[in-house]
Amino acid sequence: MNSINKIGKFITFEGIDGAGKSTHISNVVNLIQAQGLTVVSTREPGGTPLGEKLRELVLHETMHPETETLLMFAARREHLANVIEPALARGDWVVCDRFSDATFAYQGGGRGLDKAKFAELEQWVHAHLHPDLTLLFDLPPAIAGERLAAQGRLLDRFEQERVDFHHRVRDAYLERSAAEPQRIQVINANQRPDIIKKQVEETVLRYCL
Ligand code: TMP
Repeated sequence: MNSINKIGKFITFEGIDGAGKSTHISNVVNLIQAQGLTVVSTREPGGTPLGEKLRELVLHETMHPETETLLMFAARREHLANVIEPALARGDWVVCDRFSDATFAYQGGGRGLDKAKFAELEQWVHAHLHPDLTLLFDLPPAIAGERLAAQGRLLDRFEQERVDFHHRVRDAYLERSAAEPQRIQVINANQRPDIIKKQVEETVLRYCL
């Protein structure tokens, strides 16, 4: 497909584990619905029955970093074909918890794989479609780690990584936002939740509505 009848907007949320994006995703969904618009809220890896199975594998099974990357893109292809593209074609909005920027940050920055290969996969899987706006929740890994520990639940493979992994993920995200400052808006996630909420809402309204 070379073009898509895209009326709705595609918004993605990114950040290191523990950055606290979940509550703000719900707020943005409510904000968009309050404008009388239809919005599909989804996530990666996941968002389809097959994608959710792949999510279980990549979050919990030990595997080669390239296998991990390919599974992320396999889940993404399925997600685009079955959820994201149909929603945008209907004119709905799509809010997605993570997308390809996460592969650049985690598999590129965190795992140290060659990012040029991801550009090829991105070209293959979604050359025709990129987020209109990405909100990057940024905060120091030490603080994110404390937040995760306070949740007191079992951590997945990525959350269990050492702090230097999360530093590399954060740096890769910031590098990508510096390369695409218009699309990727950095939100300082080390602030009071009400201040973050206001900034997120203002950003969405400014860029998308
Ligand atoms: P979540 O917990 O925010 O839903 O994300 C699941 C984990 O998957 C998170 O630690 C980041 C990781 N991930 C990647 O490593 N690469 C990717 O392409 C995506 C979408 C997620």
